[in-house]
Amino acid sequence: MNVLLLGSGGREHAFAWKLAQSQGLSQLFIAPGNAGTAQCGTNVNMAVTDFSAIRDFVLEKEIALVVVGPEDPLVKGIHDFFLADEQLRNIPVIGPQQEGAQLEGSKDFSKKFMMRHGVPTAQYQTFTKETLAAGLQFLETLQPPYVLKADGLAAGKGVVIPHTLEEAKVELTAMLADAKFGDASSKVVIEEFLQGIELSVFVLTDGVSYKMLPAAKDYKRIGEGDTGLNTGGMGAVSPVPFADEAFLKKVEERVVIPTINGLRKDNIPYVGFIFIGLMNHAGEPKVIEYNCRMGDPETEVVLPRLNCDLLDLFVATGKKKLSDFQLAIDPRTATTVVLVSGGYPGDYAKGKLISGLDVKTEGVVFHAGTRGQAGAVESAGGRVLACTGFGNSIQQALNESFAAANAIAYEGKYFRRDIGQDLLNWKGF
Ligand code: AMP
Ligand code: GLY
Repeated sequence: MNVLLLGSGGREHAFAWKLAQSQGLSQLFIAPGNAGTAQCGTNVNMAVTDFSAIRDFVLEKEIALVVVGPEDPLVKGIHDFFLADEQLRNIPVIGPQQEGAQLEGSKDFSKKFMMRHGVPTAQYQTFTKETLAAGLQFLETLQPPYVLKADGLAAGKGVVIPHTLEEAKVELTAMLADAKFGDASSKVVIEEFLQGIELSVFVLTDGVSYKMLPAAKDYKRIGEGDTGLNTGGMGAVSPVPFADEAFLKKVEERVVIPTINGLRKDNIPYVGFIFIGLMNHAGEPKVIEYNCRMGDPETEVVLPRLNCDLLDLFVATGKKKLSDFQLAIDPRTATTVVLVSGGYPGDYAKGKLISGLDVKTEGVVFHAGTRGQAGAVESAGGRVLACTGFGNSIQQALNESFAAANAIAYEGKYFRRDIGQDLLNWKGF
């Protein structure tokens, strides 16, 4: 079967790497891909939101399955586009239709969904330009820190957490009255700040049944000790000690099942991943956000732990036969350490030649922002590579990740040396 995978990050290299191991795969195409995905299939120079180019390509290459990595094409309706086209209609797309993608595309939509279906989450209210005065008043009733979220997609920058009432008021005004995030902040969700430790939970659903994939912890800040600006993610660990069987059972019963049932009750068709970002507050889960895709860099530790054929899993999903599929999970720990360009998440240089990629470890070096061919690979983005290691303990896995992270070199390389350190001696809450 020929497969088209959309995207170009570390997540997509991990998808491509796993799909390339599949018995049933004939040809794998990745659009636009990176230097890593080019080792697993054929890169195609096509934007993930150029639906008409994608249509032509899918027909020309007899693609039988499309896997969508990032949220953008989903929120813009790529799955709906396929369903509306007579020739594309029967080609399964892994990724929800536009309405389901609103779980990520609109914070207001997702909060209302959680409230309607009894999914535990922070208390909140939504404000617009017209209700700015009420929003400012509402802030006065809350305790710091304050959580302000632009309703729409804002390239991961739409959540602001001011620590004083003054800053919160200035920020709310900037978002609503001055359109700080453009259209994305025409509505702003203000919510209660949740204490605890964050977990990324991944569910794959065919709209009827679902499978929970391994959960992971992501490290979002640029600086060691969780300091500095937010990034796309600087590292990940799976599994994690604070998400034991009892906690994950609570997550399944209180969050996953009400979410899947809620989609059905609301008549929202959903085929694809649901990424649930949640807070573990003293053993109780509360949802921070939904995403309609896999996480990055979490995918680089989740997929390597799947001991089953990923293409078979997707085919079962497309056929709504997920309930018949047997997931097999590797009990070992996987860790990943992300190497970024100096200056990220601010301005950074591209085009730096990368050496040391042939490092020999048991792990896998996934490419994110890279371009070029083997022997002449250079940086092409903020997050450049994700060094995944395996082990019977977090420490063992980290040893592999850091061995690769140290062996690889390019001008301006930066990575966090404290990934996973908070979990090594985890003693509970
Ligand atoms: P989001 O874009 O929704 O993932 O939010 C970005 C980050 O802000 C999350 O990963 C959390 O670390 C933090 N965050 C969002 N909402 C809350 C909340 N209600 N309480 C505490 N932290 C939050
Ligand atoms: N690592 C978080 C995300 O993919 O949104």
